Amino acid sequence: MRGGIFVRTFAAFLMATLATVALFTVTLAATLQAQRQESYEDEVRQQAREVAEYMSHLNQLQFVRENTTMQFVIRRKLTHIHDRYNADIWIVSYNSGQAQILDSSWNTSEYATSEAVALQLQSIYQGSEIRVQGLFPELGDEIVTIGVPWTYSEGHVVGAVLLHISTESLRVKLTDVLPALLPAGLGVLALGIALSFILARSQTNPLNELIAAVRDFSRGELGRRVELHCGGELQALGEEINKMAFALSTLEESRRGFVASVSHELRSPLTCIQGYVQALRDGTFPEEDREKYMGVVLDETARLTNLVNDLLDLSRFESGKFPLNLMRLDINELIRRTLLRFEPRIDEKRANVEADFPDEPGYVEADPERIQQVVGNLIDNALKFLPDGGTLSVGARREGKRVVAWVRDSGPGISTEDLPFIFDRFYKADKAHTSGMGTGLGLSIVKRILEQHGTDISVDSKPGETVFRFSLPAADEKKAG
Ligand SMILES: Nc1ncnc2c1ncn2[C@@H]1O[C@H](COP(=O)(O)OP(=O)(O)OP(=O)(O)O)[C@@H](O)[C@H]1O
Ligand SMILES: [Mg+2]
Repeated sequence: MRGGIFVRTFAAFLMATLATVALFTVTLAATLQAQRQESYEDEVRQQAREVAEYMSHLNQLQFVRENTTMQFVIRRKLTHIHDRYNADIWIVSYNSGQAQILDSSWNTSEYATSEAVALQLQSIYQGSEIRVQGLFPELGDEIVTIGVPWTYSEGHVVGAVLLHISTESLRVKLTDVLPALLPAGLGVLALGIALSFILARSQTNPLNELIAAVRDFSRGELGRRVELHCGGELQALGEEINKMAFALSTLEESRRGFVASVSHELRSPLTCIQGYVQALRDGTFPEEDREKYMGVVLDETARLTNLVNDLLDLSRFESGKFPLNLMRLDINELIRRTLLRFEPRIDEKRANVEADFPDEPGYVEADPERIQQVVGNLIDNALKFLPDGGTLSVGARREGKRVVAWVRDSGPGISTEDLPFIFDRFYKADKAHTSGMGTGLGLSIVKRILEQHGTDISVDSKPGETVFRFSLPAADEKKAG
């Protein structure tokens, strides 16, 4: 797995480097070869010119052999040219079809010129330099002859210097120039390999960090974070993974908290039931109190049932598996009907009830059962905290395209410290007073239901007054038909 991307990236970079270096070396070598070729031929031609230069002190071929100094100087020069360039020199004196030649071996000979040779020699006699391949058939096709004029004082041409060299000796081979390029080529190659390695590493290092982080997450180390500063898409991916890990750890934390709260809420009624049932079986209670304690057990089982129902509701709302049965309904009517269900408790508290509804119906688009659950929870809370003889107000009013409903009570109010948390699961403010009265799930269910309806709930509270408000989209009569 480790080798995968690294090896592929490294190989790709390496191939690109190799191809580039090879291409550049070949191009450079070819250019260099062409340049060397040209300058080499110039150098060879220069040798012929130098011989002609020595000869310019004499005007006849025979004088070369007679003049000791010249003989010494020119013989040396010819030997040098032969050894250095693998070339032969002919010093030629020409006279209408007949040439007299002094060659590198210091032999003089007569030469009957062909028409082609005569033509070239005449051209030299007119002051030009020549370069002809295969001019002398007896020397072979592969011999290049370079000819320069032998000029005696005041520009009078008295002969020619011919230099014969094989094309092979003249050619600069690729292997002659390659050694010059080799160190630079190898240097660039080494640099390319090093850079390829670094680049491939820079690609795979972030990936390895991502893999390690994800592996840690899957082991449950949700506190781990991806540390990347490479920029670009991989860093963005790292940041997204970090966000995901944060969300997961929050979820995990809330799951743990939830399980702890549920266990706690289940334990108290169960302990209570267990204690009473045990006592009833053992006959600890006097006969006349048995009825009362059976009542307590029944209440506790009812509380357990409510708790379990609430939990089921909540889990269904949160998983979105509770499809809304949306319809047009009169919210005024729904609130009034819900209020009726609480009549016994209202009487018990001798509460004053104020209902504030307009004359016309308040049609909204909502799920009647769910909204009844919302209103029921809010009235239940209000009655729970309402002092004896306190006031409970309910009402609804059309505001633009929405209908706003509210439940108000003249209870003690909710402290500002508790206010932000009352919609959290299992949150109970003023635990001492309300313990045993609820589980702290009511408002979180209310919030989920309203969220599902695409709306929210607000609360205003001060000592002596708490009011919960929510709004629903108005359903116009015509449209709802
Ligand atoms: N009208 C109110 N006046 C004062 N405090 C309130 C009022 N409504 C809610 N609260 C506070 O908010 C907390 C959360 O309310 P919520 O309805 O979620 O739980 P609960 O009523 O305690 O339990 P449950 O509704 O599950 O039986 C309550 O415990 C209470 O402290
Ligand atoms: Mg409640």
